[in-house]
Amino acid sequence: MSKKILLDRLNGKVTHKIPVWFMRQAGRYLPEYREIRADVPDFLTMCYTPKLAAEVTLQPIRRYGFDGAILFSDILVIPDALGQHVRFEKGEGPRLGDLHLDQLAQKSTQDVVDYLSPVMETIDRVKTDLPKSTTFLGFCGAPFTVASYMIAGKGGDGQDGIRQYYYQQPENMMKLIDILVEASAAYLIAQIKAGVEAVQIFESWASALAPDDLEILSLYPIKRIIDKIHSEFPNFPVIVFAKGASEHLENIQNITSAHAQGVDWSTDLTKARQAVGEKTVLQGNLDPIAILAGGDMLTKKVEAILEHAKNQAFIFNLGHGIRQTTPLENVQKVLDIIRSV
Ligand code: CP3
Repeated sequence: MSKKILLDRLNGKVTHKIPVWFMRQAGRYLPEYREIRADVPDFLTMCYTPKLAAEVTLQPIRRYGFDGAILFSDILVIPDALGQHVRFEKGEGPRLGDLHLDQLAQKSTQDVVDYLSPVMETIDRVKTDLPKSTTFLGFCGAPFTVASYMIAGKGGDGQDGIRQYYYQQPENMMKLIDILVEASAAYLIAQIKAGVEAVQIFESWASALAPDDLEILSLYPIKRIIDKIHSEFPNFPVIVFAKGASEHLENIQNITSAHAQGVDWSTDLTKARQAVGEKTVLQGNLDPIAILAGGDMLTKKVEAILEHAKNQAFIFNLGHGIRQTTPLENVQKVLDIIRSV
């Protein structure tokens, strides 16, 4: 047994305490993040400046002692590395330039990894400063979710654009997915070589897909990424978070064989456990609005999740990223409750 309870859980060991980390824990709800962010002209510059990215990765660990530290970066560094222009507009979210498949196809996986070398340097810096009990998590977006931003040029609207593209140009869609499978696998493998101890694949727009399309566009591509990781690093822990796909947990498990599945707050944890079996780790699923709201309801919601977590393969997390306006004391309150059991 190591000192890292999150990694131990992912590796199937029973741990005394319930491991906890939060999606988007490095971000704008923290005043120390906002202070650093205020001096940087744009978000991607933060992602590509190892000193700053390492610092904000560590901020939530220093303040709260989460069991996992997630690398500070973004899922959209992959289109950026492939040569599709990406920028983040204040208050509007990401905006991407036109998609030129033939140009993307010319980039090799080595080009992508070389372009993202600042991210590997961030990992190297974080590794040296991370407490011995903290598990270091890398990540990427799943091909479908990343493709949805590449095709629409932005987020939102249930990602209608990508389904229209797929129905009208299925061959091009699969070409794009293939490019993203290769690039994402190479990127995750580079992260692992640089020092992350587990990885999460974010399928944030899984809810947009019909079940048969989910298999083709999401689950098999994710499986291909995991297989590539495992061919170099057998049994390396992978978490798949397919948001809005609680009806599909069994299928996701059967196809991807992930060590862990993230679940959002619409998920019934009893049914989820039945769907994935005893061994698969479930990770979730506090509503980010419950932690924003605070009060007695927050306590009840946390306790209800802990009831499910007891003696189970479970990692406490939110059902999606923490919101910007979440009070700091609510985060502390949730951690205090978790650590008291
Ligand atoms: O703390 C962490 O979780 C690590 C870093 C991280 C970020 N984005 C930082 C970020 C991670 C893991 C992500 C993943 C990500 N990025 C996803 C998947 C998870 C999810 O939320 O569903 C997606 C879809 C993106 C794309 C993205 N990045 C959007 C849509 C936005 C704008 C929305 C917003 O909140 O403004 C971002 C920007 C972004 N990524 C910020 C952060 C801290 C805020 C930008 C800023 O600080 O100016």
